[in-house]
Amino acid sequence: MTELPFASEAGRRRTFAIISHPDAGKTTLTENLLFAAGALRLAGQVRARGQSRRTSSDWMKIERERGISVSSSVMTFEYRDCTVNLLDTPGHEDFSEDTYRTLTAADSAVMVLDAAKGIEPQTLKLFEVCRLRDIPILTFINKMDREARDPLEILEEIADKLALDVVPMQWPAGSGSRFCGVQQIAKNKFLPFVKEQDEVLPSLAMDDPDLVKYLPEEERLELAEALELADGSFAEFSKDSYLEGHLTPVYYGSALRKFGVRELLDALVDLAPPPHAASAKKSDADVQQQPGSAEVSGFVFKVQANMDPNHRDRIAFTRLCSGEFKRGMKLKTTFGKSMTISQPLMFFAQERGIADTAYAGDVIGIPNHGVLRVGDSLSQSGKLQFPGLPNFAPELLRRARPKDPMKAKHLRRALESLAEEGVTQLFKPMIGSDMILGAVGQLQIEVTAERIANEYKLDVLFEPCPYSIARWISASDRAALQAFSDRHKMQMAEDVDGDAVFLAKSAWEINYAQEKFPDISFTATKER
Ligand code: G4P
Repeated sequence: MTELPFASEAGRRRTFAIISHPDAGKTTLTENLLFAAGALRLAGQVRARGQSRRTSSDWMKIERERGISVSSSVMTFEYRDCTVNLLDTPGHEDFSEDTYRTLTAADSAVMVLDAAKGIEPQTLKLFEVCRLRDIPILTFINKMDREARDPLEILEEIADKLALDVVPMQWPAGSGSRFCGVQQIAKNKFLPFVKEQDEVLPSLAMDDPDLVKYLPEEERLELAEALELADGSFAEFSKDSYLEGHLTPVYYGSALRKFGVRELLDALVDLAPPPHAASAKKSDADVQQQPGSAEVSGFVFKVQANMDPNHRDRIAFTRLCSGEFKRGMKLKTTFGKSMTISQPLMFFAQERGIADTAYAGDVIGIPNHGVLRVGDSLSQSGKLQFPGLPNFAPELLRRARPKDPMKAKHLRRALESLAEEGVTQLFKPMIGSDMILGAVGQLQIEVTAERIANEYKLDVLFEPCPYSIARWISASDRAALQAFSDRHKMQMAEDVDGDAVFLAKSAWEINYAQEKFPDISFTATKER
């Protein structure tokens, strides 16, 4: 098969997500990656302004107030000869579903660990998500300018808890006030860390007479001893094993002090995979959609409403899987919706712009008014369907009520459009006019209330409701489904897509219903 002229473009793409426990330094690292690539003029500038923390990847007020990142976003920048697409994921576990979906759009991940903490429970949960998808992972051990745990101990912990081969590509000399830098193992060079300055120095050969300025004799001996001890404890680096998701190369640094950030970026460009063929269905046949194939295709992995509060726009973040996308192109969903993409957006560190062309691996934002939903596939033929993205059953149900009873209709509309983003769910009981919000955790409820206040100027109260579990129900026999609904009218509801949901007071009640109605399936996830 002859290569199409644009095929090499996809090979230049590196699309990755950063996963970490909150506070491990993901935001700081993001900012300094952008800075190292020249995409931000002054790292820390945005953050330093005003009291609240704000970085380019934080869009929402609540994120700034709490200093957490709750919405995934994308940022595109150029580095060396690559176009890098960085997908930001929320670190908070209440948003792990969002993270899961974002990872479906990433070709690799960077796992950020706090050097004093190692693997925290949340990192483990997110990793499992990567493991499900066999995503290659680079590990960055951050905050070496603070007292860290023993490097050997952390590496063993990663290997044990994550069942991954671990290969240190660097070895740190000390930590905290004694941190001198890292030895680059393969190059046999030393990258010095200078406490007083943020400027990153070039690395030195281990026999360079200047080395002693940065690595005093005592520290050098300690480093040599540690390396000797580590020698033989770890597997040899194998790129194939990394690409298969079985091995993680480990780098060290201090995102805050910009140390080790460029090395991480270089590793991403050198090691991380470009877009691969994506499994899809084309008119019911299984196909592998190659990034370089002629047909333009992609899927929506995130929808965000009200990014610009002045316009009630909704952006469908679409990961392209193949072809050469051109502005103005007509794309179709498998549900038969057809749209001309006249204003495709690309997101850069400090601005958004119009994408005239884009390739596999790129993420374009498609403004629309609720036509596109998470999980939708788009292609020129309208026949390509990428695997659906699951909706997970919420773990927390709350009744929503407007403070001003006259505003019920407005509130319903606001909740519907937020539910269409796919982060929270809205259930409308068959009987009565309640609105029940489903969320994974309390933080999502608070974020929703805050967004409704900010974006819709409405005060909402979320109150306890009698139900604690929601399950989608289905059956091949329509009559059986109808019989079940009729018997449980008070507990039946619809989600935003009109699909039937059973609201239960406890897990016991679900089991009981399942026993009584064996023809009905009760599911905790719904694929779209
Ligand atoms: P997150 O997105 O993963 O939640 O972490 P974030 O970057 O917000 O970093 C969490 C805290 O850790 C911040 O401190 C940040 O400055 C600090 N930090 C990040 N990287 C490093 C590092 O390499 N070394 C050191 N010493 N600290 C680091 P904060 O006090 O919460 O915020 P701020 O007041 O500094 O902005």
